Amino acid sequence: MKILDLINNRFSPTDFSNKQITEEEIKLLFEAAGKAASAFNEQPWRFVYALQQDKEEFKLLHECLVEGNRTWTGNVSALVITFISLTYARNGKENAVAKHDLGLAVGNLTMQASSMGLHVHQMAGILPEKIKEVLNVPDGFQPLTAIAIGYNNGEIKFKPRKSVEEIAFKGKWK
Ligand SMILES: Cc1cc2nc3c(=O)[nH]c(=O)nc-3n(C[C@H](O)[C@H](O)[C@H](O)COP(=O)(O)O)c2cc1C
Repeated sequence: MKILDLINNRFSPTDFSNKQITEEEIKLLFEAAGKAASAFNEQPWRFVYALQQDKEEFKLLHECLVEGNRTWTGNVSALVITFISLTYARNGKENAVAKHDLGLAVGNLTMQASSMGLHVHQMAGILPEKIKEVLNVPDGFQPLTAIAIGYNNGEIKFKPRKSVEEIAFKGKWK
C-alpha cells in the first residue's frame, strides 16, 4: 500500500517556464475545484483568474500580489485570486468553515493540475484591499489567497514533512 503518486510528487515551484495554458485547461481545473465537498453544499469558493497571454488581465492580478510573490510569478501560465463567501446564502449566518471548503476546492484543483503535468503554488501574500478595489469584488466576499499555475522549469524540491506520529494521535492527543 502506498499513497497516490499525484500526492507524493506534488510540490510548489518558484521557477516556472513561460509556456501558456488554454482557457479549456484552466476551466478543467475549476471544474475539479467545484467538485469538492462543502458545508450545506454552499460552495463558498470563488476564483478570479488571468492567463499569461491575456496581458492586461494578467498584469492586474500580478499587481495584487505582495512584492515577494511578484518576483517569481511574472511568467507563470495563470494567476488566480481565491475568495470565500463570508456568510451562508441559505440563512445569512456566518460561514465559519468557508476557508476549510475553499482549501478542499484548491486541493482538488491542485490534483487535477498535477494530473495534467502542471504545478500549483499557493500564496497568502496578496494585497486584499487592492484586490477589492480593482477586481470588482461584491460585498460579502473576502479575498484569501492567490494561486500560480504553470509548468515547472527548475529543480524538483520536496520540503520536509512532519511524521504521521506527529500529526495523528490514536485515541487521545499525545
Ligand atoms: C495557504 C498557503 C499560503 C502560502 N503562501 C505563500 C506565499 O505567500 N508565498 C510563497 O512563496 N509560498 C507560499 N505558500 C507555499 C508554501 O510555502 C509551501 O506550500 C510549503 O512550504 C510546502 O511546500 P510544498 O508546497 O512544495 O510541499 C503558501 C501555501 C499555502 C497552502
